[in-house]
Formats: sequence, C-alpha cells, structure tokens
Amino acid sequence: MSTRHFLSMLDFTPEELSGVVRRGIELKKLRNDNVLIEPLKQRVLGMIFEKSSTRTRLSFEAGMIQLGGQAIFLSSRDTQLGRGEPTDDSARVMSRMLDAVMIRTFAHSTLTEFAACSRVPVINGLSDDLHPCQLLADMQTFAEHRGSIKGKTVTWVGDGHNMCNSYIEAAVQFDFNLRICCPKGYEPPARFLQLGGERVSLVRDPREAVAGAHLVTTDVWTSMGQEEEAAQRLELFAALQVNRALLDLAAKDVLFMHCLPAHRGEEISQDLLDDPRSVAWDQAENRLHAQKALLEFLIQPGARPA
Ligand code: CP
Ligand code: NVA
Repeated sequence: MSTRHFLSMLDFTPEELSGVVRRGIELKKLRNDNVLIEPLKQRVLGMIFEKSSTRTRLSFEAGMIQLGGQAIFLSSRDTQLGRGEPTDDSARVMSRMLDAVMIRTFAHSTLTEFAACSRVPVINGLSDDLHPCQLLADMQTFAEHRGSIKGKTVTWVGDGHNMCNSYIEAAVQFDFNLRICCPKGYEPPARFLQLGGERVSLVRDPREAVAGAHLVTTDVWTSMGQEEEAAQRLELFAALQVNRALLDLAAKDVLFMHCLPAHRGEEISQDLLDDPRSVAWDQAENRLHAQKALLEFLIQPGARPA
C-alpha cells in the first residue's frame, strides 16, 4: 500500500476524517481517565519547523510521547535543509530514519516535494496555503459542543489565507456552508473558491456574513511571512473585528473559534476569548487529541478507524 500523507483535508476521505475526529474524542476521554494508550512505542516523528509555533510543536511532541513514541524538533536553522540541501534529498534521508515527518513551512510545494520522496507519512503542520491539522481540532471541537456540522453555516471573518483555505476544504469534506467575509483583494485563491462551489459564498458585510451562523471563526490579519504588510493590513481589515456585538447577530447557540495566537484589539475585541460562546481553549487543547488520532491513523495503518 502506498504511503499516506496528510497535506490537505482532501488527502483523506470524509469517512476517514470523521473517523479521526471520533478517535480524537475517544483519546481525549481515555487521557482524562488516565488510561495509557501506547501504540507508537519506538516510533519517531521528525518535526521540521521553518516558522514559529507553540501549539503545533507542543501538541505533536506531547502527543507522540503520550502514544509511547518520541518526537524530534528540527529547526531549519540548524539542519542542512536550512543551508540549501535539496528537499528531496532531505526527504530520502530523513524518511529512512523516522516513522513520520511533520513540516511547517512557507511554500506548500516544499511539502509536496518532500512527500513525493518520503517513504513515511508527511503531515502538514501549516503552509502558506493550508493548515489541515487545525481543522481536525476545529471539527472535533464543534462535534463535542454541538454534534454534526453537516448542513450548518460557518462564517470565516478575515484573511483569505491558509486557515480560510482549509475551511473551504473542510466545508467540502464535512458538508457545511461557508461564508467568507474578507476585504477586497484578500479573497482565497480562485482554485479554492472553485473547489468550494456552491457551499462557499463571499459576503462583504460582516453583519450579514455572521447573521444566523452556527460557527464564527477568524485568524490574525497578518500571517507569518507577511510581516512587512502589517500596517497596511491593520487599516484594510479594521472593519472586520469580531466582537460580542457582532456575535449577537449569529445563531443563539453560535460558537466562536480562533486558531490562536490571537491579537486582542485587532481581529477580536479584548474580551472575546472570555465570552461564553468562545471555545478557543478547548479548540487549542484538541490539537493534541485530534493529532494523536492522526498519528495513530498514519503510523499504525492496522489500527485505522474506519
Ligand atoms: N494554531 C497554531 O497552529 O498555533 P501555533 O502557531 O502556536 O502552532
Ligand atoms: N494564518 C496564521 C495561522 C497561525 C497558526 C499564520 O499563517 O501565521
């Protein structure tokens, strides 16, 4: 069987994604009940980081340890990758020593090039295009709080960048409607909008975009790698701050999510993460559980949830 990778939500079938989410919920309960599950003994995950991270690094590292394995942090500054060793050579070498590789990078092509030469599963820990691991946690969080997301309305407020693109892929795979509210010129790339088809709509007015929504979510206005545009983005996105008054226009049982890190006073008001409708801390915690399910699925094919 050929090596499976998780570079995008589209790499798994909807059934496989739902299975991973269900297993994440199960693994969370087992951990809370102090039950040890160690299917990945002696297994090693390599984690290549070309960008900063708190949640992604911690959740993968802690997750591997909890599953009985180990994780090795590889900063691009300290490896030969950072000094120009070709991606495919690195993939060939690393994948002979590791059981899986997680990569956080800039160009998505780095991931696809690495995966093409890797003998072991490659996981996208965020690229400029996509952040699928975050979506596993977001889908788990919605499922825990509200049940099935199928047919619900989700509103993305903010930049049409990696998180938004992954929301489009999730809308297709989990069958929900997605409204995207972003400034002109900051829409997701056309290929993602085409993929979303009728499930995805662009709504310019944030009040109209959140009206009746079951989930409202946002992200920083300036992503990693866009730092030079920060001042301009602050001005352009100013009308898109998510605050309590805006959430009041959504469905009564709306949830608010933010992948974090957050900039209070910019994309969200100072108080929004303390609002009872916000589930951002559960969402952050679920990175751990959802990715443990992902690691189990990819590294232990025999134990795949169907
Ligand atoms: N949400 C997320 O990926 O956080 P980190 O950048 O801290 O990993
Ligand atoms: N869009 C953000 C997500 C951080 C988790 C970034 O790429 O910096």
